[in-house]
Amino acid sequence: MTGRVLPFGPSNPIIQAPMAGGGATPALAAAVSRAGGLGFLAAGYRTAQDVRREIAAVRERTDRPFGVNVFVPDFAAARREPGDDAALARYREELAPEAERYGVTLPEAPAWDDDEWDAKIGLLVDERVPVAGFTFGCPPPEVTARLHDAGSVIMVMVNTPWEAVAAAESGADAVIVQSSGAGGHQAAFLPPPPSWPPTWEAPDDLPELVALVREATDVPLVAAGGIMDGADVAAVLAAGAVAAQLGTAFLRTPESGTHPVHKAALADPRFTRTAFTRAFSGRTARGLANRFMAEHEASAPACYPQVHHLTKGLRRAAAEHGDPEAMALWCGRGYRRCRDLPAAALVEVLMEELAAARA
Ligand SMILES: Cc1cc2nc3c(=O)[nH]c(=O)nc-3n(C[C@H](O)[C@H](O)[C@H](O)COP(=O)(O)O)c2cc1C
Repeated sequence: MTGRVLPFGPSNPIIQAPMAGGGATPALAAAVSRAGGLGFLAAGYRTAQDVRREIAAVRERTDRPFGVNVFVPDFAAARREPGDDAALARYREELAPEAERYGVTLPEAPAWDDDEWDAKIGLLVDERVPVAGFTFGCPPPEVTARLHDAGSVIMVMVNTPWEAVAAAESGADAVIVQSSGAGGHQAAFLPPPPSWPPTWEAPDDLPELVALVREATDVPLVAAGGIMDGADVAAVLAAGAVAAQLGTAFLRTPESGTHPVHKAALADPRFTRTAFTRAFSGRTARGLANRFMAEHEASAPACYPQVHHLTKGLRRAAAEHGDPEAMALWCGRGYRRCRDLPAAALVEVLMEELAAARA
């Protein structure tokens, strides 16, 4: 452990999850940080220039700490597996009727890209962001050193005890333990090492997973996945976490930039469950089960971010048509318990409920 001071802990444990795709606006992050939580921007899928503007917009609204989250590219995936191109071409063909339906042209051969990794790391270092968060992997040692020199706290999201150990060894100051009930993409970035049974499965129950990870490492843990109220926060703190990261709970706040069709679907009784899918991005993520997922889940290749690029025009067009059936409606298992409150009021209610649960 580095002993860096964390801008969260058992007495201020509410962290708003970064939400790529427009959800995590500067207004949301600033409102959460001002209310005593930790707000997060999501750099994923945005240009470094846009992220720079968003950081400035948060700083205009608050001088409290906030985080910026970056996706770690899988550089090994850049060296494509033989067959990936063929699998992508087949998937593109399968999606042709969808493209016609929504009036879009699918990209010819969507390419792997690193989501402007170098530029984003340079930006986080330049801007001396209070918290730098990483998803889909650990930052390499050189990046960790630069961010620590710039004074940033580093967080890495994990799904398993061995990923938590790897993150702690990479120099992370805190590790986010994400359960299978979480909305959006799973962090998953390492297969089980030989010392773990290859069939090991993470428990669905978040406090149980936190307790298992607690046994594997003493790095401070943040829990994420299906946390919707103060009693849920109390349960993960009791299991050994120092804070809770909530994404879905903030999706319907007025400050969230989540598309209105997505916000409406969360309260629409026609959607009855969430499911994992890689049909939209090529990586496993949880969202409301809809038509696109049902029709394409079985054939979507595990090619991220090429599948993301292949489907993004379709998803945008579906949103413009007001049709949630071909949108990625990311949310966690707790989505029915979303509350329509401004972000600051939600942080306040969560803290009151936490106090009541601890009393
Ligand atoms: C719409 C949406 C977008 C997300 N985007 C990101 C992201 O850009 N980076 C990230 O680290 N996690 C992202 N997540 C996952 C969150 O970090 C977190 O694990 C998850 O929201 C926790 O589960 P919950 O949604 O049930 O609270 C996203 C989640 C949602 C719902």
